[in-house]
Amino acid sequence: MPLRPARKIRPAPVGLASDMGRAGGGSAPDTGRSNAGQTSGNRPDGSDWHETRDRVEHYFDRTATDVWTRLTSDADVSWVRRTVRAGRDEMRALILSRLPDDLSGMRILDAGCGVGQLSQALAERGAEVVAVDISESLLDVARTRLPDHLAARVEFRTGDLRDDAFGRFDHVVAMDSLLYYDALDICSLLADLSDRTEGKIVFTVAPRTPLLTAMWGIGRLFPKSDRSPVMIPHAPRRLARHLERGGCVRKLSVVDRISSGFYISTCLEVAT
Ligand SMILES: C[S@@+](CC[C@H](N)C(=O)[O-])C[C@H]1O[C@@H](n2cnc3c(N)ncnc32)[C@H](O)[C@@H]1O
Repeated sequence: MPLRPARKIRPAPVGLASDMGRAGGGSAPDTGRSNAGQTSGNRPDGSDWHETRDRVEHYFDRTATDVWTRLTSDADVSWVRRTVRAGRDEMRALILSRLPDDLSGMRILDAGCGVGQLSQALAERGAEVVAVDISESLLDVARTRLPDHLAARVEFRTGDLRDDAFGRFDHVVAMDSLLYYDALDICSLLADLSDRTEGKIVFTVAPRTPLLTAMWGIGRLFPKSDRSPVMIPHAPRRLARHLERGGCVRKLSVVDRISSGFYISTCLEVAT
């Protein structure tokens, strides 16, 4: 399948930045630069892609590796985590349902693949999967869990999911890996990925519910060094509108929300 030539990345407009700050916690214009080796702009609160990514890496690579490994297995877990596990199963099925049944020969980025559950499912459908995660510990688990018959179809790579060195894709999926990023970061990431993706970009955000908003507020009370990666809630429809109007993406649709006990996540889809 022919892939489009790269276009130049657009910066997020200044007006958009203040709007998106309300939607997602960002607070200043983004530079729009999208390479993993660059920052996404200096915000008054000092946050940027790198800082968030480093906190996420620390969390998944050290603090939460065991919990995450257990949650994503068949091991017995608390009823709270069972609801999360069930919700995640539903979300995985929803994301997969947005892609063609037969993915033979398609190059798909599983952005923030964790222990590789979605990567496996994509490979079972014939895709050539580039499974990228910043956590080497989770990738180790993913490699161990990958059945032999899929080994040739999944390439596990350690790194930043926004690194353009990973190349071009037919489709991109990012399940629950952008939950920690503000709207400005999501804007510049999607603008960059849209230029390198022929088909769909399917991803999730944490919807703005009273509980998640309260947790986000409490998280901000802690010094940055002590924070685990607090999820940033978004109002999905407003986020979609702002990202379209700001020129970050051509068309962004809200697919559906999955609510299962303590798991609440909304699936969105970019048509490139
Ligand atoms: C909640 S887990 C979800 C994992 C997997 N997508 C799933 O649904 O099973 C979030 C994952 O995103 C990864 N992640 C977050 N930001 C990343 C980044 N900038 N580059 C690479 N991986 C990232 C984390 O390391 C973590 O494994």
